[in-house]
Amino acid sequence: MKVSMILGTRPQIIKSAPVYAAFRRRGVECEIVNTGQHYDYEMNRQFFTELELPDPAADLNVGAGTPSQQVSDIIAGLGELFEKARPEIVIVPGDTNSALAAGIACVKSGVPVAHLESGCRSGDFRMAEEVNRRLLDHMSHLLLCPTSRCVANVERERVLADSIVNVGDTMYDSLLKLAPRAKASDPATGLGLSHEGYVFMTLHRAETVDDPAALRRVLGASGNLPLPVAFSVHPRTRARLKEFGIVPHPNMKVMDPLPYIETLGMVSGSRLVITDSGGLQKEAFWLGKPSLITRETTEWGEIVGAGAAILVGTDPKKIERGYAKSQKVDVARFRSAKRIFGSGNASEKVVDSVEGYLRKAGRG
Ligand code: UD1
Repeated sequence: MKVSMILGTRPQIIKSAPVYAAFRRRGVECEIVNTGQHYDYEMNRQFFTELELPDPAADLNVGAGTPSQQVSDIIAGLGELFEKARPEIVIVPGDTNSALAAGIACVKSGVPVAHLESGCRSGDFRMAEEVNRRLLDHMSHLLLCPTSRCVANVERERVLADSIVNVGDTMYDSLLKLAPRAKASDPATGLGLSHEGYVFMTLHRAETVDDPAALRRVLGASGNLPLPVAFSVHPRTRARLKEFGIVPHPNMKVMDPLPYIETLGMVSGSRLVITDSGGLQKEAFWLGKPSLITRETTEWGEIVGAGAAILVGTDPKKIERGYAKSQKVDVARFRSAKRIFGSGNASEKVVDSVEGYLRKAGRG
């Protein structure tokens, strides 16, 4: 059996790394193809090193470009690769433009697709990711869902996959593996921040950072909170700050994108997380930290339901009120809700599901 995993962005590397390790433990041949959608070292290859992934078998180096250009380059690049060597199945994590393109390339080359992190929905069609994930689910043969709510979503939409399985969340596997090192790394002290004495913030979504008024509102309100804010700035956000001439509040420590272990270390040491990232919402939850989500919707309603995250949009009043509310959150209550995302063995379940799928399809 030969399995291929297609990835190209930071969150896809985090989702894929424990799955790659699980395949190797079972002696299954598994190769990585990097699309290069994220091309800065600290957004891509640094994560290969930290998460102990091997060099990719192929690198498409699509780099910067319009989303359409990136998607078409990835489809063409993967199509060529699949002509030379056909994997038995391709695993596609997440909902990025790389994921959509990988799904299309597989369908056009007649290779079965397993969508990892299938079924999550925000219901917000302004997000490129919402469109990508819905299309990818409909193209996929095996849907690997992280929660029971995700299973219910694809069932409700009558997605016609061969198999739908709740495997749990492979990001949780990655986090459990690296959390001890993250806690020991304590990057906040080096920045002069005290334990639980700061807010950790990331913003990168087009809906937040491409709108100058929204970006100003979030930065203004966060800067006015009573705690200092450590702000890890995504390349897209950095470009927008420059373009709009926005200077972050003096209460903020502005940082380049952090490595994965340091990011988890910053979350572990914080009092609160402010973010528009889907992944960071979950990581805060797993590390027992409340979060304010600067969006109107989330794909992880389970976390909001558990009382750990509060949707505040970009309204300064809601951010202020959300901060006050987050300081009264019962952390013990949401700690006990962690099992929503499985028990840290999602990657093993992915391998079981892929092997089972291929056996049934007569390809194993
Ligand atoms: C992408 C994903 C998003 C994911 C995020 C994680 C899509 C539609 N979105 O968003 O779901 O949460 O990755 O980070 O695929 N840039 C750099 N260096 C890099 C990467 C990007 O300078 O290494 C610049 C690009 O040139 C572009 C901007 O940042 O101008 C946005 O990058 P892009 O890959 O389009 O999407 P993300 O915002 O990173």
